[in-house]
Amino acid sequence: MRLSEEGKLRVAFGADHGGFHLKQEMVARLRDEYEVLDFGADSFEPHDDYPDFVVLVAEAVVSGKAQRGVIICGSGVGACIAANKMTGIRAGICHDVYSAHQGVEHDDMNVLCLGARVIGTELAAELVAAFLRAHFSGEERHRRRLEKILAIEKQALSRDEGKKGGV
Ligand code: RB5
Repeated sequence: MRLSEEGKLRVAFGADHGGFHLKQEMVARLRDEYEVLDFGADSFEPHDDYPDFVVLVAEAVVSGKAQRGVIICGSGVGACIAANKMTGIRAGICHDVYSAHQGVEHDDMNVLCLGARVIGTELAAELVAAFLRAHFSGEERHRRRLEKILAIEKQALSRDEGKKGGV
């Protein structure tokens, strides 16, 4: 895990117009405790599209530039769908604190998706804190299930590769 020079966890943030204001608030609150990488939006643009920010956050996580990602849109749904299209991303929408940490502990979730039109600022802050403080348990049954998820991902990738080579 590549932490920042100060030993802080690197966290990538992204949001569209639906999540912009909540993202600004989360980033401001977390800057002291974490190395925050803000992939935008940088201003409130009512016509921007969440996949554009999801890709940036997901790439940061997959490449190891960030250890975790937080993506905020209106509902959290679109962000979660888009993020899970990226190889190596395990994203979940969590609007309850139990799932926000259990998703990391059992499923090695690396991206948290939030819906700014669904939850308030204080709950969002608790969810992000629970997500960032949690660690994968490493227990055999959790590893075994994770391996099965990775096998599904690998199978889908090799199917796509096969299609490319086809006539
Ligand atoms: C944008 O209006 C909204 O559709 C988007 O933020 C998100 O909720 C999609 O899931």
